[in-house]
Amino acid sequence: MGDVVVDLGSGAGNDAFIARHEAGESGKVIGIDFTPAMIEKARRNAELRGYNNVEFRQGDIEKMPLTSEVADVVVSNCVLNLVPNKDGVIKEIFRVLKPGGHFSISDIVLEGQLPKNLQGDAEMYSGCISGAIQKQVYLELIEQNKFVNITIQKEKKIIIPKDILSSYFSQEEILSFNESQSGIFSITVYAEKPESCCEPGCCN
Ligand SMILES: C[S@@+](CC[C@H](N)C(=O)[O-])C[C@H]1O[C@@H](n2cnc3c(N)ncnc32)[C@H](O)[C@@H]1O
Repeated sequence: MGDVVVDLGSGAGNDAFIARHEAGESGKVIGIDFTPAMIEKARRNAELRGYNNVEFRQGDIEKMPLTSEVADVVVSNCVLNLVPNKDGVIKEIFRVLKPGGHFSISDIVLEGQLPKNLQGDAEMYSGCISGAIQKQVYLELIEQNKFVNITIQKEKKIIIPKDILSSYFSQEEILSFNESQSGIFSITVYAEKPESCCEPGCCN
């Protein structure tokens, strides 16, 4: 309660409205999105619901329109995979979080190699895949940016329909693909900004 929550790529505002319950009346939620139409829509939705502790700011999450160390919590759903410079966004998250603050981000990642065309078709099926990177690389980026207590809170394989897979695999291969660790995954990752910063370069 009383937290400042920042929602990256806030779209129509749905997640910001959920985060509002956690922030409470004494807290605040700030949604950031670079699409003017989404900002307008989110502001209209907030107004219709009579929410006065939710604010939407237009801007790029690679260069957030926020001062440093302002947020207790950063959330985001299905956005980082769309951003080419993921390292830049993670650095920005570190900058805007207060020491001891945390993020919880839901996103799409890949594991193993997928046939290139399959990735294209899967994109048409579920969206949010273009720009997705390997899970390991994603987690390493978070670690390299000095976050701690990195935890995967949820992980679910996205099941691609058989009619798409059958263009690339035999029936047997489809079975083993669905059971394997290779594929497209929806994950929620949690990590904390350290409370205090005692290593050289940690505060940069
Ligand atoms: C797939 S939608 C997700 C919206 C919302 N998070 C949800 O779950 O309903 C992605 C949103 O991210 C925004 N977006 C994508 N790249 C962005 C960036 N670099 N900076 C700010 N917003 C971005 C888009 O404008 C879009 O509203």
